[in-house]
This record gives sequence, C-alpha cells and structure tokens, in this order.
Amino acid sequence: MAIMEILTAPDPRLREVSKPVDKVDDDLRALMDDMLETMYDAPGIGLAAIQVGVPKRVIVMDLAGKDEEPAPRFFINPEILDPSEEKNLYEEGCLSVPEYFDEVERPARCRVKYLDYDGEEQILEAEGLLATCIQHEMDHLEGVLFIDYLSRLKRDRVLKKLKKEQRLTAAM
Ligand code: NI
Repeated sequence: MAIMEILTAPDPRLREVSKPVDKVDDDLRALMDDMLETMYDAPGIGLAAIQVGVPKRVIVMDLAGKDEEPAPRFFINPEILDPSEEKNLYEEGCLSVPEYFDEVERPARCRVKYLDYDGEEQILEAEGLLATCIQHEMDHLEGVLFIDYLSRLKRDRVLKKLKKEQRLTAAM
C-alpha cells in the first residue's frame, strides 16, 4: 500500500468528470487500498479517486469514531436513488479544500446503488452523516466541490487563500 498525493483546489483535475469502472479487478482493489491508506493518513472520512488524480468513479469512506474499530466502505460506480425532500444541514470539510469548513444543505436520506470491493451490486439506505458524506463524495465524481454551494464571495475568498498557500509552498 502507498500514500498518494491529494490534489487541492483550484487544481483543474478536481473539475474532471470521472469515468465508470468497467471491471473490478486486483488493480482496482490496489487503488482502493492505497486510497484508504491515504485517507486514514490525512486524516479524513471520505475520499474520491479524482482527489488522488484518478478519474474513476470510485469512493472510499470510513465513518467510524476515533475509539471504534475501522469500518472501511468502498463504492464503485455509485448512483443516488430516491433522495429525500427533507434536508439536513452539516458542517462539511474536504481534503481537497484544506482547513475550511462550512454548512451545506443536502437531502437528509437517500439510497445508494453501487458495486462493492468484490464487484457485487449493493444497495445501501443512507441517512445522517453517511448520506451527507456519500453525496459529498459523489459530487467529486462530477467535478463538484462543496464550496460550490457557498456564495460566490465566500468561495472566491477560500480559493484565493488556497492559491496563495500553494504559491508559498512552491517557493520553498
Ligand atoms: Ni471532498
């Protein structure tokens, strides 16, 4: 396993639309293992493949608390079914938008159809943080970031700050 580099906004690759996976094989499982290790190392609770520069419809996630056993989840070619009309407000963050958190409103519940680590089709009923997280990660597959839901003023401020930090890093 290996830790991969996580792309941060405004890297244009984060705006790519990811492509469906046509075969769940050992190469894909190796990618998912590396993504999981990268996510744990960051640390974060969810990571889409495009965040490590791979434009495939693959997501890894683990919502277990600090003192709980790890509970990794793998989603391949996920689709959202029946999003609820009821909404939830959560304070979100993103490994590709470091050190910024803000509230985003999303459907409170949904079902997710996807292929699991072994390539088996699954349907998951999601609510609470799980529903929010899967919708946040699925946005990555469409090139959407959570800051896109904020006002233009807020978004521009966040992106300007990130650009400045990247310049400083590049200068060292
Ligand atoms: Ni994210």
